Amino acid sequence: MIRFENVCKTYANGGNAVIDINLHIKQGEFICLIGPSGCGKTSTLKMINRLQDPTSGQIFINNKNIMEQDPVMLRRGIGYVVQQIGLFPHMTIAENIGVVPKLLGWPPERWKERAEELLTLVGLDPKNFSKRYPMELSGGQQQRVGVLRALAAQQELVLMDEPFGALDPITRESLQDELKRLQKQLNKTIVFVTHDMDEAVKLADRIVLMKEGRILQLGTPYEFVHHPANEFVKEFMRSFKNKILDATLVDACMEPLGEEIHLPLPVVSLGTSIEKALQIMFFKRVDKLYVINEEQVKVGYLTRDKLSEYFNFGEQSNNSSGGEMNVS
Ligand SMILES: Nc1ncnc2c1ncn2[C@@H]1O[C@H](COP(=O)(O)OP(=O)(O)OP(=O)(O)O)[C@@H](O)[C@H]1O
Ligand SMILES: [Mg+2]
Repeated sequence: MIRFENVCKTYANGGNAVIDINLHIKQGEFICLIGPSGCGKTSTLKMINRLQDPTSGQIFINNKNIMEQDPVMLRRGIGYVVQQIGLFPHMTIAENIGVVPKLLGWPPERWKERAEELLTLVGLDPKNFSKRYPMELSGGQQQRVGVLRALAAQQELVLMDEPFGALDPITRESLQDELKRLQKQLNKTIVFVTHDMDEAVKLADRIVLMKEGRILQLGTPYEFVHHPANEFVKEFMRSFKNKILDATLVDACMEPLGEEIHLPLPVVSLGTSIEKALQIMFFKRVDKLYVINEEQVKVGYLTRDKLSEYFNFGEQSNNSSGGEMNVS
């Protein structure tokens, strides 16, 4: 869906912000860009909707070179959430959500209906919230509306620059859950900037770790946790290591496939909770399971011992989590 080819960005009065980025983002993928401050995440994001243009190299969206498209029209086709939310204070919540649909010429009944539908999706009752103004909402509620606004015009592609940066951990977790659910439900492609590895591991299908304008590692959360590419990535992952967040999902305790690849075992999907996996083992009377990805390809296996160890840890953290269950 998005293809970066040898993309560089040098600012007139700055250094090289982005150096030779090659990246292919697939339709429906959730990509997290992560890395230290100043490593080029925002610059990379802004080149996708032409808020910045590359100094060299090319970017294609659906195989079309974005330099050959009108920037304004291009931007209307792409959702964008900035860090400071940026709701318009003089517009109601419904009008804020409807900004891009209105620009695209949707009739009022259609964008109003769309705003109500989206508010309902994130648990904000439209009867109560549609006609309020942003300042009459809490920070977390405003952030939620900011996310909805980016989804309103049914753009396939949404760019988000640290959208949950300023939130307390609990609101943040619930918004992450909502976003992930909405993304799957509405089949969006999302490019999401964060500097929180927990957030990246939780949300991303693939993570792009940048340093000084270059990509140091590109891979799944599992690869980052278990196979960091070098010392810098390992160091970066240290901030993640002791967190409980993934300890409730099978992804956390999956082992790489080896000899056992041919054994006839039941399967569970990535994202399944450890509790569910243990139940399946119990009912199927096995002590191993395969883990499969969305393409139904086996990506690892689980043992009862490892699951039990993690399950106890997850219990202590009092963090419940669910996921797709897929028993063969
Ligand atoms: N408009 C600009 N003019 C000149 N230099 C810029 C401009 N925008 C960014 N830079 C520089 O480019 C580099 C990358 O900036 P960028 O905003 O992409 O970083 P970032 O990874 O998003 O950082 P942060 O995590 O702090 O938001 C930095 O060194 C920054 O100072
Ligand atoms: Mg930034």
